[in-house]
Amino acid sequence: TTEELEARVREIKNELGTKLYIPGHHYQKDEVIQFADDTGDSLKLAQLSEENSEAEHIVFCGVHFMAETADILTTKNQKVYLPDMRAGCSMADMADIFQTERAWTKLTELFGTTIIPLTYVNSTAAIKAFVGKNNGATVTSSNAEKMVSWAFEQKERILFLPDQHLGRNTAFNLGVSLDEMAVWNPINDTLEYDGPIENVKVILWKGHCSVHENFTVANIHDVRAQFPEMKIIVHPECRREVVELSDMDGSTNYIINAIENAKPGSSWAIGTEMNLVKRIIQQHPDKHIVSLNPHMCPCLTMNRIDLPHLVWCLESIVEGKPHNVIEVEDEVAINAKKALAAMLQQS
Ligand code: 13P
Ligand code: SF4
Repeated sequence: TTEELEARVREIKNELGTKLYIPGHHYQKDEVIQFADDTGDSLKLAQLSEENSEAEHIVFCGVHFMAETADILTTKNQKVYLPDMRAGCSMADMADIFQTERAWTKLTELFGTTIIPLTYVNSTAAIKAFVGKNNGATVTSSNAEKMVSWAFEQKERILFLPDQHLGRNTAFNLGVSLDEMAVWNPINDTLEYDGPIENVKVILWKGHCSVHENFTVANIHDVRAQFPEMKIIVHPECRREVVELSDMDGSTNYIINAIENAKPGSSWAIGTEMNLVKRIIQQHPDKHIVSLNPHMCPCLTMNRIDLPHLVWCLESIVEGKPHNVIEVEDEVAINAKKALAAMLQQS
């Protein structure tokens, strides 16, 4: 039963004490997040994994790229586990290393050495390593503006992987116009751009988050019609036109803080992942909060981490035959760490 599974997690947590650390991303289900030692967005969890040097076992409740990042940042005697290997990220899957290398060859033919790569942390370790090798950096949604500004101090042009929306929204906020942004299509290896090539400042990888792309302009119009006083706040993984029409936009942490600091009685429509929106609604009974899209689904891959998988993974650690160890090979890890370090230095 659920009660038995919950009791078992508590027992194992007591038994392993500080040897066990469970970070949980904000998009995780309540049945899992209740056991997290820390919750956070992707940047906070990356930093905490690095700081938690006592923990021998890091059971990462999030998705695959986050567990890889934790493995890259922690020491050799710390092991990182992902309770369900199917917990991937459809956005991270939209850029593979071979496509990226092909793109880089073509883009450096076009732009020479005037270009630097940046990758959202929602990407494979191999992509992070590619970026590190080429003197670029990783980015999260909470430091994207800082990192894009940093990149422009290094070079005239940026290749931004793999989320076109975060890249476009961030560059736009920094004053880059939409006609200075091109799109790299990894399916047919082409640059989608109408103007003179020398005008390009940002090349956006044609990837997206299948959760955040579900928020539409029609959702915004519906909310405005039904609740004219409602403030609309969205994640920058949403499309440009949705961000444009909303009142506020920012990372998971930014959204949580904005609602926390909002006046009692205020009303909000939130455009981000459903598990988080539901939790925010529960935590703020004094405010009127809805999802920007009432038919929104949670992130299905985040949802793969559930209580039975958590128990299964913890049991395997206790038995000394651990399942689902995430180990990034050394050569990849060294270069990926360079890209992460370039970001963490700025944060
Ligand atoms: P943040 O945690 O950086 O806001 O990213 C959101 C996300 O989609 C994680 O997969
Ligand atoms: Fe990936 Fe989007 Fe899910 Fe985040 S919410 S893990 S970006 S699919």
